[in-house]
Amino acid sequence: MPDRKIIAVIGATGAQGGGLVRAIQADRSGSFAARAITRNPNSEKAQALKASGVEVVTADADDPASLERAFAGAYGAFCLTNFWEHFSPERELAQARNQAQAAKQAGLQHVIWSTLEDTRKWIPLEDTRMPTLMGKYKVPHFDAKGEADGIFKELGVPTTWLLTSFYWDNLIYFGAGPQRGPDGVLAVTFPMDDKKLPGIAVEDIGKCALGVFKRGKEFINKTVGIAGEHLTGQQIATALTEALGQEVRYNNVSPEVYRSFGFPAADDLGNMFQFKRDFNDYFCGARNLEFSRSLNPELQTFREWLAIHKDQIPVPAEQTA
Ligand SMILES: NC(=O)c1ccc[n+]([C@@H]2O[C@H](COP(=O)([O-])OP(=O)(O)OC[C@H]3O[C@@H](n4cnc5c(N)ncnc54)[C@H](OP(=O)(O)O)[C@@H]3O)[C@@H](O)[C@H]2O)c1
Repeated sequence: MPDRKIIAVIGATGAQGGGLVRAIQADRSGSFAARAITRNPNSEKAQALKASGVEVVTADADDPASLERAFAGAYGAFCLTNFWEHFSPERELAQARNQAQAAKQAGLQHVIWSTLEDTRKWIPLEDTRMPTLMGKYKVPHFDAKGEADGIFKELGVPTTWLLTSFYWDNLIYFGAGPQRGPDGVLAVTFPMDDKKLPGIAVEDIGKCALGVFKRGKEFINKTVGIAGEHLTGQQIATALTEALGQEVRYNNVSPEVYRSFGFPAADDLGNMFQFKRDFNDYFCGARNLEFSRSLNPELQTFREWLAIHKDQIPVPAEQTA
């Protein structure tokens, strides 16, 4: 379909970008065609995309020339970095710059940059409420994305800055699922007190992104935030109790305790939750639910997400005496 506008999707084999590719494929208006960008066109996921009729193009966000080739002739791009592959904010910044420059070079008409807040605008480095990490960050995997916002702006790329939310899918894939406490009862642990955590089904991020591309001009040079629901730790635990058919408690710990858990980037995530807790009105306000639903009428609630995914959540077996 030569009249379809091509959206080059970074992360097309992953969660956010994959959702966008599927949303474009399912879109009856047929306004867009996805071009899946991957470093490895032979991977199972890339091959599956190809088999479903998607154009698959090889490029690496560390390689500017490959991105320029991959963006050439496209109408727009979904730009993303994956902090969790390398844990390096500097590398995220470099990869974001490469994507912004390639977008500029290709003359793209609309770019979505999947971003998060530079928390240092709220908590400067000298603020001792939370430790400074890696020398110059408070929440490294947020701050570099937020810092990269300015690169798209400086280069004059027609951009929508898309503030995403905590994936509920982290309960399945990111170790955030319920664990058994010393009493044997399941509990989810967040250092959020009684504050609300904006969350989303990751599949809905791509659907919202398609909504942004469809409404186009309205969102160019704007920041938009999305979430499926804002829930307290207790509300998350209650919904999990219902879905799993066994009690799940909310284990509310302090950010200090969370930072000390010792898994990779526990300090980064402890600071992240503290930021969300301490600037809760801002953080929830930036992720309006009605607005998100206007972009994506299929937006899932947590209970709707659980109804589909509850069996994928790893649940530690009960201890037997
Ligand atoms: N977990 C959460 O709750 C949450 C919430 C908001 C934001 N985020 C952010 O989401 C980002 C990860 O997105 P995701 O969850 O969609 O990732 P994902 O499912 O882990 O997939 C990563 C994707 O990035 C692509 N990629 C990685 N490095 C690349 C490179 N150098 N060049 C080209 N493509 C590259 C991979 O493609 P190939 O391997 O095929 O090349 C893959 O498609 C992280 O930065 C994280 O901070 C996460």
